[in-house]
Amino acid sequence: MTIKVIQWATGSVGRESVDCILDHPDLELVGCWVHSAEKTGKDVGEVLGIPATGVITTNSLDEICAIDADAVMYSPLVPNPKEVSALLRSGKNVVTPVGWFYPDDEQTRRMNEACEAAGVTLHGTGMDPGAITEVFPLIMSAMSKNVTFVRGEEISDIRGYGSPDVVRDIMMFGGTPEEAVGGPMLDLLDSGYRQSLNMITDALGIKREGIRIERLLETAVATAPIESPIGTIEPGHVAGQRFYWDAYVGHAKVARVGVTWLMGEENLEPAWDFGEQGERFDIEVRGTPDTVFAVSSWHPETNHEGLDRNLGIIATAAHCVNAIPVVVEAAPGVQTSLDLPMITGRAHKDLIAAAAQP
Ligand SMILES: NC(=O)c1ccc[n+]([C@@H]2O[C@H](COP(=O)([O-])OP(=O)(O)OC[C@H]3O[C@@H](n4cnc5c(N)ncnc54)[C@H](OP(=O)(O)O)[C@@H]3O)[C@@H](O)[C@H]2O)c1
Repeated sequence: MTIKVIQWATGSVGRESVDCILDHPDLELVGCWVHSAEKTGKDVGEVLGIPATGVITTNSLDEICAIDADAVMYSPLVPNPKEVSALLRSGKNVVTPVGWFYPDDEQTRRMNEACEAAGVTLHGTGMDPGAITEVFPLIMSAMSKNVTFVRGEEISDIRGYGSPDVVRDIMMFGGTPEEAVGGPMLDLLDSGYRQSLNMITDALGIKREGIRIERLLETAVATAPIESPIGTIEPGHVAGQRFYWDAYVGHAKVARVGVTWLMGEENLEPAWDFGEQGERFDIEVRGTPDTVFAVSSWHPETNHEGLDRNLGIIATAAHCVNAIPVVVEAAPGVQTSLDLPMITGRAHKDLIAAAAQP
């Protein structure tokens, strides 16, 4: 049976999510919420510059709730728990890259109530958090005994990220180091990366009470003007940032998750670079044996390519969309990656059709 899906928001993740839904053999796009007035009341295809879909966008939560659908892929700029609760209470499963990866706060109790009232599931997933910073290292940890350290980390050229307003006004690139350290980014990333660390240490069987989490933001500044999609970064202004969340048992660091974003590798102080392996996502498990690998194929060949279409964003959208068939079958409640069965991709529709020929 085809699963009917609504896309909520058509930013970078949202537009890739629509693509993933349209290409998925088990899913059908039946609705789409948009934020801006100029995107409202149009065919989704017209909004995204793709062929017409027959699905007309709306800006109304009530209209979305009234649609007969099985699931919503919820990817707005920032999560609104009231919206998510309303979507759940209207009988729709929700998959999202904006939170609820491994939550344990009071708000989750209310989300569980909404899920149970309507018999639906809420699941947070994506790339990091969602895969690199917890699911991938935990899967690899199964291949080791006596695990002592786990790491999941993104190392990227931020010039290939297609949301210049976010890079300038939220990440505070191009500002002074004081502006970056005092900016909102550390707190915005905090909830998701803490959930990644909690999932890792819980799954490894280390009691939360015995763990201390330290978070760190370091900046690098330009030593000469650096041209970037947000304009010229002047000397002394921020052109590199590192965000880390570390879990300690006593003095032993048992897990690290985080991200390094650089405006290229030239003219930085400190002289940070991407290292010999270049841009990548690192997975590291120390135990017997160790597992160390890097995912390099989610970064673009050039920053221009990344601005046009970011493969990490496609991976984020794909992980969410591929989770939908599992999530609609799951028990009601907030279900994390530790609760759900394995999520996989689907073959290209043409392969499935060719194999089905008599
Ligand atoms: N877990 C992961 O691995 C992962 C990876 C990537 C992103 N994310 C998260 O996914 C979310 C979406 O990311 P993105 O790259 O798609 O962001 P984006 O390109 O900036 O798009 C944001 C979307 O939100 C809409 N929007 C803007 N202001 C809004 C407001 N005040 N209220 C409601 N909606 C608003 C925008 O609408 P318009 O298009 O109409 O302006 C756009 O559709 C972010 O929270 C991001 O942190 C998670």
